[in-house]
Amino acid sequence: MANIINGKTVAAKIKNTIKEQIPLLEHQYGRRPSLCVIMVGNDSANQGYVRNKVQTGLSIGIDARLMALEDNISEAELLKIIHVLNEDPLIDGILVQLPLPAHMNEERVVDAVAKNKDVDGFHTLNVGALWQGTHCIAPCTPKGIIQLIKTTEIPISGKTAVVVGRSNIVGKPVAKLLLDENATVIMAHSYTEDLKKITLLADILIVAVGKEKIITADMIKPGAIVIDVGNTYNTEGKLVGDVDFEGACEVAGYITPVPGGVGPLTIAMLMINTMECFLSHVEANTDVSKLWDNITNARSGKD
Ligand code: GUN
Repeated sequence: MANIINGKTVAAKIKNTIKEQIPLLEHQYGRRPSLCVIMVGNDSANQGYVRNKVQTGLSIGIDARLMALEDNISEAELLKIIHVLNEDPLIDGILVQLPLPAHMNEERVVDAVAKNKDVDGFHTLNVGALWQGTHCIAPCTPKGIIQLIKTTEIPISGKTAVVVGRSNIVGKPVAKLLLDENATVIMAHSYTEDLKKITLLADILIVAVGKEKIITADMIKPGAIVIDVGNTYNTEGKLVGDVDFEGACEVAGYITPVPGGVGPLTIAMLMINTMECFLSHVEANTDVSKLWDNITNARSGKD
């Protein structure tokens, strides 16, 4: 029977560590980290996501605020707002919730956010830096996935990792982060001819497709770490992942549930990215690795 990786517990430890650090940082630098979340329109799913981001920030001491804009705002007006936030020295992180209304060019809007305030890690320059291996803000979900794998304490180095799905938000960046951890990475996608043949190679299987039960028990190598990034509502209105969870539990060594697996880590990493942006603003040469040391110790219960 697989060990369940509890994302809520992992995320709670990370958030608590940040919560403890913020008063110390405020004392040292005279202000708290700040995050501005921009939402255009009133899509109900987006409202829920955005509320969660802002409330989580506030709950741990980040000066988080929501800027809710009418869905008929022009792209030029939105770009002007982003420009003002870019120039504001008291704003550390800017997140523009996606998707944007159809009349806006998402790429242009994402690239308007200052690279060093881009807490999503979606800016072209951050994506380029990620692949180049230079300093970057890495996107939240891939970063959270690496943290979840590390909770198993099984070394990633040398393992075969299969990533199913090649989106810009999850598949591609998580492949690069796994490569940085010295995994041998295989990417599978909708054109992959024999998916099962490929997934059976995986010591670490990351599934980010958005299709219920695309991965069944017979496609999992015994003992594998299975990270389910799927997050869709099925015909019964139930939130489901991409992996047949019950079947997979019989074969996998470790598995993330949906909900309660990857989702909480995405938010926790948004908080981490906000902290990294804050530290880069208040002190040019801040050692961000100290923050990571604290978080790593919290994760493994060594604190
Ligand atoms: N919409 C769905 N997920 C995300 C995310 O991670 N960041 C942003 N900005 N928008 C999203």
